[in-house]
Amino acid sequence: MTSFFNHYLIPLYLLFIYFTSTTTTTSAALAIVSPRPKSLLLTVSKDTTTSQYTTKILQRTPPVFVPLTLDLGTQYLWLNCGRRYVSSTYKPVPCGSPLCALANAKICRSCPSGPKPGCNNNTCRAIISNPITNTSTKKGSELATDVIQLNSSNGATTGDLVTIPNFLFVCAPTSLLGGLAKGVSGVAGFGRTKVSFPTQASSAFRLAQTFALCLPPFSENGFAFLGEGPYNITPGGTGLNVDLRSMLTYTPLITNPVRTSEYFIGVQGIKVGGEDVPINKSLFTIDSKGYGGTTISLLQPYTSMETSIYNAVSAAFDRQILNTSYPTKRVAPVAPFKYCYDTLPSSRVGPSVSNIDLVLQGKNAVWTIAPLNSLVRTYVGYCIAFVDGGKNPRSSIVVGGYQIEDNLLQFDRAKNRIGISSSLVYDRIRCSFFNFTTTV
Ligand SMILES: *[C@@H]1O[C@H](CO)[C@@H](O)[C@H](O)[C@H]1NC(C)=O
Ligand SMILES: *[C@@H]1O[C@H](CO)[C@@H](O)[C@H](O)[C@H]1NC(C)=O
Ligand SMILES: *[C@@H]1O[C@H](CO)[C@@H](O)[C@H](O)[C@H]1NC(C)=O
Ligand SMILES: *[C@@H]1O[C@H](CO)[C@@H](O)[C@H](O)[C@H]1NC(C)=O
Ligand SMILES: *[C@@H]1O[C@H](CO)[C@@H](O)[C@H](O)[C@H]1NC(C)=O
Ligand SMILES: *[C@@H]1O[C@H](CO)[C@@H](O)[C@H](O)[C@H]1NC(C)=O
Repeated sequence: MTSFFNHYLIPLYLLFIYFTSTTTTTSAALAIVSPRPKSLLLTVSKDTTTSQYTTKILQRTPPVFVPLTLDLGTQYLWLNCGRRYVSSTYKPVPCGSPLCALANAKICRSCPSGPKPGCNNNTCRAIISNPITNTSTKKGSELATDVIQLNSSNGATTGDLVTIPNFLFVCAPTSLLGGLAKGVSGVAGFGRTKVSFPTQASSAFRLAQTFALCLPPFSENGFAFLGEGPYNITPGGTGLNVDLRSMLTYTPLITNPVRTSEYFIGVQGIKVGGEDVPINKSLFTIDSKGYGGTTISLLQPYTSMETSIYNAVSAAFDRQILNTSYPTKRVAPVAPFKYCYDTLPSSRVGPSVSNIDLVLQGKNAVWTIAPLNSLVRTYVGYCIAFVDGGKNPRSSIVVGGYQIEDNLLQFDRAKNRIGISSSLVYDRIRCSFFNFTTTV
């Protein structure tokens, strides 16, 4: 067990966030964990059984790989501290420490069966919940820090492993893992909080509070970049190197007054094949109870839309799909989808039908959902890959994983905006094309 005194000395970058967010006069010295990289790089893979997107980090002393499910709504990193948690650098956070306040960990408890990771006396505890099952730890789970290691990157390949000595996380019981992909031992929370995974990792190296996700459609490796970039990739069949940032269009990042750790965007209209779909516009705004609007969730496999939006968009798309000389026929639906087709005209990159445009706040900002992301192959043929979100959902639109795959999304908290590339595939780019070769 390490002394509590030590604990106060080390995570200075976290205290820096704390001080700068609670006072305007403190200029705490920043601890730079050397060497300072350009950006940090994580691999992201799809678990095809659950449709969750997973990553892995190195944690503890001696280091072990910890696989994690990514979630944009979760506030922090939480992972299982069951019997197999062995680390000489594990440090519980003592009650009353500024880190407790930073992480909103309000419960202080002793733990008679300790001391061991997850169970120490006089440590602060946070109530955490599993975002799939909604189960939560009612008595709270221990807040702690430990060493993590991540790959750095120059934007084009994998760089050195870099170390963050005191990375804050919550120590969850094994019972909280239900519903997570097989082999995963926790959730990497990418939420809009001061203690989320990207906030902490970027702060440790004074990188911009920006991260980019490129999700792969299969169990191959896509990537997440923490920091401003560049994000370089080589399109198939070319020797070129493209900085994916050049393909982004930006829309303001919107805050939901109730669900502040989630990312919302301002959809203002929806077009199918360039045609405006009639939609009750009040569904696009967020009310004072946090209902309405458009959010993004990596835990929802397909985009859901409030019933009237779903019906209007599906009907317009269906009409256009059937209104061609191609012999397409509607066939019996395959749940959870309602509109399915036996066959569709095809192009080099999948079905050749209309695009669906989410018209966004911001000059010329449009998220084009191309056929590769709007139609899914099933055993009957193709189905429209949206689901009915019901009559009074919390969010009118929840953009889900299938619609994001092989698109680059940049969550730019520093500039309060989200960058969207739309499908990269039509430019011969896939998220799996990133060159993970290590060059130091
Ligand atoms: C922790 O607290 C419990 C109850 O307050 C006490 O019985 C136990 O001795 C303490 N353990 C340690 C290691 O201090
Ligand atoms: C968990 O809660 C969310 C939001 O309240 C809800 O959409 C979801 O259906 C719930 N999941 C379960 C398994 O109860
Ligand atoms: C539009 O939606 C809002 C919120 O759901 C509802 O109160 C209103 O009656 C709807 N307007 C029309 C014309 O359907
Ligand atoms: C069907 O397509 C034709 C030619 O593209 C177009 O002129 C017509 O308006 C379409 N009809 C409907 C109902 O969309
Ligand atoms: C990946 O990067 C390495 C190091 O720069 C380079 O030698 C290799 O050719 C690249 N691979 C591809 C497929 O571009
Ligand atoms: C770092 O990158 C190498 C090479 O791509 C990879 O084998 C390793 O798993 C990565 N480590 C982490 C912690 O992501």
